[in-house]
Amino acid sequence: MTMQNLPSCNHYVVFFFIQAIFAMIAFSYYKTPKYCSHTSNPDYQTLSPDASKEHPLVILLWTWPFGSRFPLNKCKKPSEQGCWFTDDREKYSTANAVIFHHRDVCGSRSQLPQIPRPPGQYWVWFNLESPSHSPNLGMMDNLMNLTMSYRADSDIFTPYGYLLPDKSNQNFTIPEKSKLVAWAVSNWNPGSRRVQFYEQIKKYIKIDVFGRQHESLPNEKLSETISQYKFYFSFENSIHRDYITEKLWRNAMFFRSVPIVLGPPRENYERFIPRDAFIHVDDFTNASQMADYLLQLDKDNEKYQQYFNWRSRYKPKHDNQWSDNYCAACNVLKEAPAFRTITSLGKWFT
Ligand SMILES: *[C@@H]1O[C@H](CO)[C@@H](O)[C@H](O)[C@H]1NC(C)=O
Ligand SMILES: *[C@@H]1O[C@H](CO)[C@@H](O)[C@H](O)[C@H]1NC(C)=O
Ligand SMILES: *[C@@H]1O[C@H](CO)[C@@H](O)[C@H](O)[C@H]1NC(C)=O
Repeated sequence: MTMQNLPSCNHYVVFFFIQAIFAMIAFSYYKTPKYCSHTSNPDYQTLSPDASKEHPLVILLWTWPFGSRFPLNKCKKPSEQGCWFTDDREKYSTANAVIFHHRDVCGSRSQLPQIPRPPGQYWVWFNLESPSHSPNLGMMDNLMNLTMSYRADSDIFTPYGYLLPDKSNQNFTIPEKSKLVAWAVSNWNPGSRRVQFYEQIKKYIKIDVFGRQHESLPNEKLSETISQYKFYFSFENSIHRDYITEKLWRNAMFFRSVPIVLGPPRENYERFIPRDAFIHVDDFTNASQMADYLLQLDKDNEKYQQYFNWRSRYKPKHDNQWSDNYCAACNVLKEAPAFRTITSLGKWFT
């Protein structure tokens, strides 16, 4: 730039002023991570609850998770009785516990209560997203008393799915299998481990991929489609301890395909499901070796069927609703320790 092109001092002042305004706008955007927002649905009727003899514990939902509403106070299990849930922030000062859904409040401290916490009130940190998609964990340090998440060591354990003992004595029938491997994936990230693995294995074996950038598969067709496949890729989008989602519980287990998992190590899965219920990508040195194994199972029906033996003992459950998670909180809060504090969520939730 030559001297002639430089604006005069006066222009500089205006120029910097405009720049400063832009910078402020940009900064305020930057400060609220795009994930941390709260949407509300004004059409829904709010209940007006109160503590009573049958409902000694009042639990306040600080936000509806991701703005999705559901009927409160419908907990069925006897262990979940004795709580009254409300979304009415006016009840803050009398609530025994307040549940904060991380992604609705993680934008800034100002999204949390601004008045002092009543003595004895528990703050519960609730999150079902993985640490990779949970910004601003540090903001929660020295604020929360109890954790509520898919992590098995949470105070309130809210998994994506689980096995129930099956006492029905009904023999499980393996559905007709006419196809080999399916994968339904909506978030296609070429740099991710799961896409890179797919790029390798597709050289050796045919994988039918469904999803946004692939063949479409409407939700109501998922069950019928996946059940025709011998194997299903239950590949997590990020890899963290206990982060095992509906990709396993619903898409493979419930829809009756054999899960091929990519996620935390095999030992982690074996805490939740039998070792002969799944195939882990880490069981093989490379994609070609896994492809060979799948082709071998494809020819050996007896060996393939062993992956269904566990089904005479257990039934997979995958359909936890938001309300089930909150009901689980009631059960734990009744017996919560008198004092707890979580100094660093970020250190624990990795
Ligand atoms: C289940 O299978 C076992 C062994 O094949 C058989 O003896 C039993 O009658 C079957 N039960 C039902 C309910 O079909
Ligand atoms: C994959 O691993 C097997 C067993 O370790 C090895 O024999 C084979 O050469 C490897 N294949 C590729 C393509 O790297
Ligand atoms: C919850 O944690 C906060 C912050 O550390 C603490 O001040 C409060 O006493 C704790 N409450 C309970 C009931 O443990």
